[in-house]
Amino acid sequence: MSTQSLSAPPIGADHIRALVEPDRVHRSVYTDQALFDLEVERIFERIWVYCGHESQVPKPGDFYTMQIGRQPMVMVRDKDMQIHVLYNRCPHRGVELCGATKGNTGSSLVCSYHAWSFHLDGKIKAIPLASGYDGTRLSRDNPDCSMKRAERVDAYRGFVFASLSPTGPSLREFLGEARIAFDDMCDRSPVGEVEAVPVCHRVIQHSNWKFFMENQLDALHPSVTHQSTGVAAGRIEQQLVKKHGKAPLYYHMLSTFASSFEMWDEVQTLNFPRGHGILKAYMGLRPQDPDTKAYEALLEKAYGKEKMEEYLSRSIHHVLVYPYLSVQSPLQQLRCLRPIAPNKTLSEIWHFRLKGAPDAIYKRSLWYYNLVNSPATMINADDLENWSKGQWGLESKGGEWVSFHRGMGTDTEENGVTYSNKGTSEAVMRSQFKAWVQYMTGAL
Ligand code: FES
Ligand SMILES: [Fe+2]
Repeated sequence: MSTQSLSAPPIGADHIRALVEPDRVHRSVYTDQALFDLEVERIFERIWVYCGHESQVPKPGDFYTMQIGRQPMVMVRDKDMQIHVLYNRCPHRGVELCGATKGNTGSSLVCSYHAWSFHLDGKIKAIPLASGYDGTRLSRDNPDCSMKRAERVDAYRGFVFASLSPTGPSLREFLGEARIAFDDMCDRSPVGEVEAVPVCHRVIQHSNWKFFMENQLDALHPSVTHQSTGVAAGRIEQQLVKKHGKAPLYYHMLSTFASSFEMWDEVQTLNFPRGHGILKAYMGLRPQDPDTKAYEALLEKAYGKEKMEEYLSRSIHHVLVYPYLSVQSPLQQLRCLRPIAPNKTLSEIWHFRLKGAPDAIYKRSLWYYNLVNSPATMINADDLENWSKGQWGLESKGGEWVSFHRGMGTDTEENGVTYSNKGTSEAVMRSQFKAWVQYMTGAL
């Protein structure tokens, strides 16, 4: 099968199905421009896409810009505190309205070209020299005179999403079992809420978005890819334990990456419909230090002992909202992908503060953010290098297929959920591609 014949338009459903076999996929799903264009149309510009957290726009007039598929969008807080998601485009001649990533636009959005102004819900407010339109078919009542809005906007526990499609599942349905990502994050706050820390690392990865999504639940790679970092951190951790009887938790955050293959095989993945998934916990995050005890006492006061135990002992490390979100709820981390091209993906890397929790607990989140997820860390950098090299390999003529055979036939399926019996099973990728075919053929 040649890439050329696979990419020749139009791409029909049979064509798409032929690219994904139960245990392998054709390399063109990572490299082909026509397939990427179709992904934008059939997936990213239809599904619920994460816009941001409501704490990013706390006051009326606050805005935050982002891409949904290829569409430039802006999330704005209105005077009545409602949040709108609008196309960041002036209806006059198309000029971008909010030129900055974030800010406050006051009581209206004003175009920098000819000063048309808009209410915070996107409706036209004023047109300079409006009499110039007398006798033309442009009128203020015409919706074309106002900024276009995302078809649907909704939020789940403060996390704001928008869909550019008027039809489709509700946000709750779309998130399905992956809602636990947001519940788990918020339940860890004594007041049940988080706030975004207004620092976002943005990384361009020179690879297809699927590399990231597959990697997040790939338990086979950490002890290889992150071995040098994990082993080095582990050595110092052991020295400190020997000397002082304990070591700061951040050494553990890094040393765990170098755990044995056997340990990784013990960590189960859960793979849900729509491609969402969970990698269960593999890291001890409940040390017995005074900070942790004080925090747990706060949670117990807020929710009672039973609930506190339930919230803190959920077995979660990563939750994936397919195809673009990775949430590490126990550490309040969220990474959001904005695909740009077959071989180019923007990732936004966020972390959150548990409202009402002691500062020492926030610092753990910050450590993890800086030590594991930030572009400055050796963990993220080593992953990025693998994905770039993966992209080059798949763009080559060195082979046509990508293998997802590992653990095939050994997983357990119940009520549409696939449970891996070995952590390193490639059930994750098989499940993601099942959803991919459904999206691309219009079945989802
Ligand atoms: S393009 Fe915006 S006012 Fe003319
Ligand atoms: Fe990794």
